[in-house]
Amino acid sequence: MNDEHPASLAGRRIVVGVSGSIAAYKAVLVVRRLLEAGAIVDVAMTPAAAAFVTPLTFASLTHRPVVSDVLALDGDQQIAHIELAEAADAILLAPATANLLAELAAGLVPDAVTAIACASRAPVLVAPAMDAGMWTHPATQRNVAALRDYGYIVIEPEVGELASGLTGIGRLADPVHIVEAVERRFARSGDLEGVRVVVSAGGTREPIDPVRFIGNRSSGKMGAAIAEAARDRGASVTLVAGSMSVTPPRGVTVVEATTAAAMREAIIGAAPHADILVMAAAVADFAPVRPAKRKIKRDGSALNVELVPNPDIVAEVGEMPEDVRPFLIGFAAESDDLEANATGKLRDKGLDLIVGNVIGGPFDAIGSDENKVTVFGVEGPLTDWPMLPKRQVAERLWDLIVDRYRKARDGESPAPRGGRRSGG
Ligand SMILES: Cc1cc2nc3c(=O)[nH]c(=O)nc-3n(C[C@H](O)[C@H](O)[C@H](O)COP(=O)(O)O)c2cc1C
Repeated sequence: MNDEHPASLAGRRIVVGVSGSIAAYKAVLVVRRLLEAGAIVDVAMTPAAAAFVTPLTFASLTHRPVVSDVLALDGDQQIAHIELAEAADAILLAPATANLLAELAAGLVPDAVTAIACASRAPVLVAPAMDAGMWTHPATQRNVAALRDYGYIVIEPEVGELASGLTGIGRLADPVHIVEAVERRFARSGDLEGVRVVVSAGGTREPIDPVRFIGNRSSGKMGAAIAEAARDRGASVTLVAGSMSVTPPRGVTVVEATTAAAMREAIIGAAPHADILVMAAAVADFAPVRPAKRKIKRDGSALNVELVPNPDIVAEVGEMPEDVRPFLIGFAAESDDLEANATGKLRDKGLDLIVGNVIGGPFDAIGSDENKVTVFGVEGPLTDWPMLPKRQVAERLWDLIVDRYRKARDGESPAPRGGRRSGG
């Protein structure tokens, strides 16, 4: 594995969370292997873990302070666990006790390890280690299933001799396999190497006069997460940014386009040079026909603003000639009948995939840090994902997009794409 992906861990910031298992000493071997692979490793420990291995051991190996107190500040008076949560490229919990799995599943954060895992949006890998009875207990299995639902990668325990002297399932996976699982996580992140990706994000603002506009509540968080995830997988990314409440990710080219007209110009210009275009922006369907040149004064009478339909940018890209048209992903926010509306839009606008979410219900994806989406191809729904942090939605989306894009490029498209051109 090391030979296959020699550089996948170089420079990556990995937080290793150690909990109170008899296998805690094996975390020392895991940390050593991660360091040998070039990773920058920080260790966090639960109080119970420190009864098995001392923080001194990890601090000596990593040359970095070990976080074992959830109430601790670091040298710059910053909250240590939040600093690590934000800096991490991945979090590896090894060994993870039955208790740790339960806390994580329930969202409890009594210590530095759970606090980091809960606060971070980095991928989390969990390597459980426990007695066979504990591992097979329905509560533990339910907790593991919950963690999988959150998007955690579970590195399954192995069958072998346990601390009790009995043989069964529950032994911590071999440290070599654990490090390979971390490497795999990053190897996947190179799957957009050399691919040109354009993502639109945020909402548009259609001017009524020099200070007022018709806009929408789109925050741009979903589009920013998609752009960031594409960047991390090696794509060269252009973000066509409407009005956004989040800072665009570093390392992507940002083209500002805050009106539908500006967004059209940017997208139509960029699309022929893109391999994949993800249209996550909430582009206004209508704009004032003639924005006033001066601020409209209040004079007691009603104000009528005439609106005209904006150009349908996605459909325009969908109609581009095959040799310049990028692989095209649209978004559909629907208040009802998601499947019919989303697949209808996919066909009408010539999309390859459409990401649908329901708006107007008890959960509002707009502006939220989480989202529950269903992806549709021309053959119908392709996913059944739970509510996930937007970054994890983005990762799953790219898994799906990369697969479909490759198949389409290699001429083995699983189904004809939507669109008038294909006659489909
Ligand atoms: C010698 C010994 C070994 C233990 N090994 C494990 C283990 O492998 N897995 C586990 O889930 N709990 C194990 N425990 C129990 C945990 O240490 C205990 O549940 C503790 O509360 C876990 O805290 P933490 O999850 O915050 O680290 C062990 C306890 C002792 C005394």
